[in-house]
Amino acid sequence: MNRHGTPGTSGAESTALEVRGLSVELRTPGGPVPVVRDVGFSVGAGQTLALLGESGCGKSMTAQAVAGLLDPVAEVVGGQVLLGGRDVLRLGPRERRGLAGPELAMVFQDALTALNPVHTVGSQLAEPFRIHERASRGAARERAVELMERVGIPEPGLRFRSYPHQFSGGMRQRLLIAMAVALRPSVLLADEPTTALDVTVQAQIMELLAELRRETRMALVLITHDLAVVAEQADQVAVMYSGTVVESGPVAEVFAAPRHPYTRGLLDSVPAGHARGTVLPSIEGAPPRPTAVPAGCAFRTRCPLARERCATHEPPLSATGPGRASACHYWKELADA
Ligand SMILES: Nc1ncnc2c1ncn2[C@@H]1O[C@H](COP(=O)(O)OP(=O)(O)OP(=O)(O)O)[C@@H](O)[C@H]1O
Ligand code: SF4
Ligand SMILES: [Mg+2]
Repeated sequence: MNRHGTPGTSGAESTALEVRGLSVELRTPGGPVPVVRDVGFSVGAGQTLALLGESGCGKSMTAQAVAGLLDPVAEVVGGQVLLGGRDVLRLGPRERRGLAGPELAMVFQDALTALNPVHTVGSQLAEPFRIHERASRGAARERAVELMERVGIPEPGLRFRSYPHQFSGGMRQRLLIAMAVALRPSVLLADEPTTALDVTVQAQIMELLAELRRETRMALVLITHDLAVVAEQADQVAVMYSGTVVESGPVAEVFAAPRHPYTRGLLDSVPAGHARGTVLPSIEGAPPRPTAVPAGCAFRTRCPLARERCATHEPPLSATGPGRASACHYWKELADA
């Protein structure tokens, strides 16, 4: 467990990525608006950490900040991102770019916009080998075709010359994953890699990610709305609400006995025996807008356990047991229930 009480890597696993106190603000005409607030987590080599939470809670912003790929309207205003022990937020732009690919890679939420429509997929896949490994054109092509085969693209030799729009959604997602894992990164951030894909393709993509993780000891940060995917794929989970982590710990423990009313609400609202691919159902009410986060606990307007203290004192994320943490003043009431 790190100082933020977030799930840590056990002694058996070396830490691949550790994020501490990460805060991101949006620059708006009305002044800075916090969208990621003091987020911390760590993930070990070969392990998967899921970032879970409703739309707008800051999952993508967190991942983009870690990857150094934030939209120019957003800015990291605090924290550390330790990759192999080095704080990448303190690196210059050139050094930082050098990490993208071999150390840290990201699969974006939207596969179509993440691929360049005017270049063949083959040339896009070959590019990392040309840039990072200074491979010849022929060698890079060979590696790219191998990679296409590896991620299950049929007839890769022929499809090398195709353009992104000539691939189905599932195949484009495979291409993005292929591009991201080309240089065998030690950490992969996958932002909803299966949203918008049908259930069979979702399962294939998740299996592919699991294989890559096993083969290369890649650490995976998986962003998803899908509780079934988290339960099946992840070792650790960090549940986010309104820009911050409100509960974290080993998935099996958190799902069996959540220690935050928000996590409880997410789990309770899933019908028993729900199918794979089910997205998070809604808890009554909506999360606050980043410009209107209530004082005290951000969840209090929707929380069945809220009381006076919740309106005045923001609950810090605190350890509740080995490897577990909750940001609720009254977590014990859930644990005892
Ligand atoms: N480019 C942007 N410009 C302005 N606001 C943004 C931008 N991107 C995100 N936001 C805002 O920042 C907050 C966090 O957004 P983020 O995209 O990280 O949420 P998310 O958890 O990934 O949601 P989803 O599950 O819908 O992908 C939201 O309030 C969102 O409206
Ligand atoms: S601190 Fe209060 S409002 Fe927040 S989750 Fe706990 S009980 Fe609910
Ligand atoms: Mg997102």
